Amino acid sequence: MQPPAAGTLRILHLSDTHLTGDGALHQGSVDTTAALDAVLAHVDGVPGVGLVVVSGDVSEDGSPESYRSVRERVGGWAERHGAAFVVVPGNHDQREGFRQVFANGHVLGEGGHPLAHTMEYLPPSVPVSGRTTVAGFRVVTVDTSVPGAGYGEVSETALERLRAALTGDPVPNGTIVVLHHPPLPSPTLLHEALRLQNPEDLAEVLAGSDVRVVLGGHQHHHAAGTLAGVPVLVAPAVANDTDVVGPYDEESAHVAAGALVVDVAADGSVWSTPVRVPRPDSDPLAFVLDAETVARIARQAGPGLR
Ligand SMILES: [Fe+2]
Repeated sequence: MQPPAAGTLRILHLSDTHLTGDGALHQGSVDTTAALDAVLAHVDGVPGVGLVVVSGDVSEDGSPESYRSVRERVGGWAERHGAAFVVVPGNHDQREGFRQVFANGHVLGEGGHPLAHTMEYLPPSVPVSGRTTVAGFRVVTVDTSVPGAGYGEVSETALERLRAALTGDPVPNGTIVVLHHPPLPSPTLLHEALRLQNPEDLAEVLAGSDVRVVLGGHQHHHAAGTLAGVPVLVAPAVANDTDVVGPYDEESAHVAAGALVVDVAADGSVWSTPVRVPRPDSDPLAFVLDAETVARIARQAGPGLR
């Protein structure tokens, strides 16, 4: 893959890993630990990743073991690649287990160095929130989960913290918001019923702010939109892929995994590349061109690379 341009923050955006503490299969069919390992192996050669994000539903069962497994796997990937690592809870997560392993979710800072946290006890009723600065960008996590519910909401507390983060010390390149329930409509009835309930409150805070992009998950399918003029990107899930073209009132998913590679430039431009991870038992390559052939075609057919 093309390396990021100078001054650009490249983000590996993962979502909905749904790991289980005891290795139980997700929905009785998918080994999510193996799926996560496959995704991470598939993107191992992506150059210049400065931040790795998991935008919620990190765990299926909320167990500390499942969070430790994500810490080890995704955090280990980030450390090896010298990238920061940030996670936010989704509706399947349990704040208690999440905090035990990830504290406020800002696990590794710039360069992949562990961040120190004061481990004060916070009850599960308090949303997980945090902010860090990576490559001149402010990274703010917003917990949209509602304990015991599947739908999402940005609580007054979470909104207040987001407002405070955005009006805090200025950063040169702007802000990246990470949350689970995206402020967008959903293609299926079930996900629509479980959507973010108050996108207008989030829109009010984003309007006129320095937020460059909102990164979310939850829909288990890649989607893109805008809120208050700010791009909203929904990463495909690691666990499975929602069938978005079936009957609206039914819900099904395919065994598939993916991720986004999101480049955010210093001027606020956003470029997102969805990555689909082939299953080992399918998807034979349609073709392969070696570097020499690519260079020849590019020379003959394109204006650059002369
Ligand atoms: Fe999910």
